[in-house]
Amino acid sequence: MARAQKGYRCRECGWETVGYVGRCQLCGEWNVLEPYVRNPGRSTAAASTAEATPARVVELADVAGAEEDRFPTTIDEFDRVLGGGIVPGSLALVGGDPGVGKSTLMLQAAARLAAAGRRVAYLCGEESPRQVRLRAGRLGVGGDGISLIAETSLDAALEAARSLDPDLLIVDSIQSVYCEGIESRLGGPAQLGEAGARLLSWAKTTETATFMTGHVTKSGEVAGPRLLEHLVDVVLYFEGAEHGALRLLRATKNRFGATDEVGVFEMTGAGLASVENPSAAFLDQEAEQASGCAVTAVIEGSRPLALEVQALAVSSSLATPRRVSSGLETARLHLLLAVLSRRVGLNAGDMDVVATVSGGLRLREPAADLAVAVALASAIRDRPVEQGVAFLGEVALSGSVRPVGQPGRRLAELARMGFRACVAAPNTQPVEGIEVWPVRHVRDAVAMALA
Ligand SMILES: Nc1ncnc2c1ncn2[C@@H]1O[C@H](COP(=O)(O)OP(=O)(O)OP(=O)(O)O)[C@@H](O)[C@H]1O
Ligand SMILES: [Mg+2]
Repeated sequence: MARAQKGYRCRECGWETVGYVGRCQLCGEWNVLEPYVRNPGRSTAAASTAEATPARVVELADVAGAEEDRFPTTIDEFDRVLGGGIVPGSLALVGGDPGVGKSTLMLQAAARLAAAGRRVAYLCGEESPRQVRLRAGRLGVGGDGISLIAETSLDAALEAARSLDPDLLIVDSIQSVYCEGIESRLGGPAQLGEAGARLLSWAKTTETATFMTGHVTKSGEVAGPRLLEHLVDVVLYFEGAEHGALRLLRATKNRFGATDEVGVFEMTGAGLASVENPSAAFLDQEAEQASGCAVTAVIEGSRPLALEVQALAVSSSLATPRRVSSGLETARLHLLLAVLSRRVGLNAGDMDVVATVSGGLRLREPAADLAVAVALASAIRDRPVEQGVAFLGEVALSGSVRPVGQPGRRLAELARMGFRACVAAPNTQPVEGIEVWPVRHVRDAVAMALA
C-alpha cells in the first residue's frame, strides 16, 4: 500500500500542490490553499490498475455520425463564425462585456432555430422570464418552440432540460448558475469549473448542442480564469466598439471551423442585424477629407475588409507626450513613429499622438503598417491624404515597404469600395478597377499620399 500523500488543495478551483505557495497557480486567488491528504488507495497507479473497470473502447470506423449534420442558425454572420452552423453535442462559450448583446444573439438564434422546427431550451439564470419575454417582444420573436427554464441550480435545470430533450440548450449565463455540493461563491472559479464540466458531460451524453454565455473581465478573459476555454469546443467573443452599434463576433477556438473568422453585426432597436457590406460600415465616409486618415485592407478570416486608420497629432504640454492607441498595439505605434522620425524626417517628439481603427476592429497584420504610417504622417503635417488612394504594405525598421500576403483579394475589395489606386510594394500585381502605385520606401509613400 502506498503512503498517504500530503499536500495543499485550492478551495476555489481544486488545484493541488505538494508544497505550500501563497497563491493558487491555476485560478490566481491568494490564500486559498488548504492542507489535505490524498486518499492513498485511489491515487496510486498500482491500485488504480488493479481496481478500475476498463474504459469503453470503440473502433473509430464504427462511431456513428460520420457525416456532418450541423444545423445552421440562418443568421449569416453567426453561421460564418461557427463554421457553417451548430454541431450537435458541441459545447460553446460566448464571452463578452456586459451589455454587448450576448443574450440578444442567443435569443435571436433560438428564434431562428425554433422557426425551423427545432426545440430550444433557454436557461435564464440571470433574468426573469418576464425580462426575456420583453426582449423577445422587442426582437419580434414570438417564442413558439422556446422553453424557458428559470432556475439557478444547474442540476435542477439540466433535469428539466432532459425532459424537454431540446436540440439546443442555452445557459445564460454560466456565472449565474451554481452546482450543488461545491462550496464556493456563485460565479467563482470552482463553481465555473464544475458547471462547465457538468455541461460538457450533458452535451456529450445527450448529444445536445449547448451554448453558455459568460461575462468577460476587464483583462479580456472570461471571468474565472481560462478554466472553461480548454473544456469547450468553441469559444466565441462578442466585442463592441466603445461607441457605435457595430458588434464583432470572433471565434478564438473552434474545433469545427476556422478560428480567424469574424462576424459583423449591427445592434438595432429590433436586435442584431448581420452587416452585409462590412467594409462600407468600417469606412467613415465623412472623415475622408480630414487629415490623419488612411485606408487599408485586412484579411479577417476568409474575407478581406477595407478599414480606416485615423490619427491625430497635437502639440503637447507634457514633458513626455502621450501615445494613445485603440485597435492597434501601442508598441507598433511607437515603432512607426520612430521610423517616420528617423527615415522620413517627420518628428512627433513634442506632440501627443492618438491612433484608432474604425469600427472597433483590431489590426493584427503588419500589412496595415503603411496605412498607419501614412495616417500618422498626414496627422503630423496636418494635411489630408489624397482621396481615393489606399495603402498596403509592411514597413521595415529601415523604412522599406514590403509586400503583403493575398494582395489580389485586398486590392479587389478596395476597388469594390471605390478606390482608384493603392500604394503598395513593387511587383504587386494590379487587379481590375484599381491601379497600383509602387513604392520602395515609406518616404515615397508619404510623398505620394500628401502630394
Ligand atoms: N431599444 C433598444 N434599441 C437599441 N438597442 C437596444 C435596445 N435595447 C437594448 N439594446 C441593446 O442591447 C444591449 C443589451 O443586450 P443584451 O442584454 O443581449 O446584452 P448582454 O451581453 O446579454 O448583457 P449582460 O451581460 O448584461 O447579460 C444594450 O446594451 C443595447 O446596446
Ligand atoms: Mg445577458
